[in-house]
Amino acid sequence: MSRTQVAIVGAGPAGLLLGALLGRAGIDNVIIERSSAQHVLSRIRAGVLEQGTVDLLDQVGCAGRLHREGLVHHGIDLAFDGALHRVDLSRFSGGRSVTVYGQTEVTRDLMQARAASGQRTIYEASGVALHDLDAAPRLTFTADGVGHELRCDFVAGCDGYHGVSRESVPASALHVFERSYPFGWLGLLADVPPANDELIYSRHPRGFALCSMRSPSRSRYYLQVPGSDTAAAWSDDAFWDELRRRLPEPAADRVVTGPALEKSVAQLRSVVVEPLRFGRLFLCGDAGHIVPPTGAKGLNLAASDVHYLAEGLRQHYAAGSGEGLEAYSARALARVWKAERFSWWMTATLHRFPEAGDFAERLQIAELDYLVHSEAALGVLAENYVGLPF
Ligand code: APR
Ligand code: PHB
Repeated sequence: MSRTQVAIVGAGPAGLLLGALLGRAGIDNVIIERSSAQHVLSRIRAGVLEQGTVDLLDQVGCAGRLHREGLVHHGIDLAFDGALHRVDLSRFSGGRSVTVYGQTEVTRDLMQARAASGQRTIYEASGVALHDLDAAPRLTFTADGVGHELRCDFVAGCDGYHGVSRESVPASALHVFERSYPFGWLGLLADVPPANDELIYSRHPRGFALCSMRSPSRSRYYLQVPGSDTAAAWSDDAFWDELRRRLPEPAADRVVTGPALEKSVAQLRSVVVEPLRFGRLFLCGDAGHIVPPTGAKGLNLAASDVHYLAEGLRQHYAAGSGEGLEAYSARALARVWKAERFSWWMTATLHRFPEAGDFAERLQIAELDYLVHSEAALGVLAENYVGLPF
């Protein structure tokens, strides 16, 4: 295996979806992934898909199980001051909705489709290095103890926040914008029925809580915790007790507890790398940007990035036009920054910032009280949550 048209680094949602889009366009591509397929699937991630993401999965023929098992949601609940306030997403977004379907399942569906398509995926590749990104890109790596070189026309860096692609760009060629938050999310997955039909985002003096789900019998919950907290510091009982404290009574009474299938702490941060292109390397998804999970935008931004890049590559190979590739970075970043703004706003409004003082706490309540009583404000929330146009 010495040559392909597009080398894709990373077999997460960005890399797999890009590979599927390119495959549909007849563009040869190889995915180089450092972990095993099993390890990639072992990661528990968010689970809210925008309509644009669902449409892309439909486009590549990978949405069958999603349509069978995904939960279409037309609203979310905001909880504050002891009450639940339903936000009618569909009413305030021109009829649009979101689909609750775990990212792990999206990845599984894409992986299985890729394996069936015969497209090349190298798992457990080590020492992946990118070379000559300006002119004639090359990847070198070791797989099954053998050294490989893969020549290509373009490289898609879909290798996440800790990947090699962004690190392969000279620091002087990039500007990294970053904002960190003084807390993390402790997530718990359990085979218990959800406490609510729709997601609950709860602002509480003790800290933020989120009630989500994966199916009618599997729930996903999160608690805001200090950034230094570890999952080991939390027993299941302690988690359930704290979750109930942070929910309005009717919702708290509906919480069904059970043993944690998974428990982990994720740090929250906002990061954007500019530009998302360096020569013939294009950064997609978490390799180019990170959002706090509050707005459920991470996977959906990976989808819009690879949609733009696939369009540019199609134009290059089909029409010899470089227009789409030239526009990729600016086009992707325009949508990324709007999602960063929304995710930052959701995080700033719903989380506890003890160092910000009591005036800031009153402003949070005022923001939420205004929001749930203003159709204009609900429209802003709804159109951002269901996803701005690609
Ligand atoms: N070489 C090859 N593969 C690599 C390397 C490397 N040096 N470094 C990382 N990878 C792989 C990782 O093992 C992972 O499978 O790249 C993949 C990146 O996948 P993600 O981190 O899931 O990123 P992305 O595909 O952009 O999806 C973004 O995933 O992390 C969540 O919250 C995030 O929902 C968002 C979504
Ligand atoms: C999840 O179900 O994991 C989830 C849902 C919504 C979010 C974040 C995570 O904003």
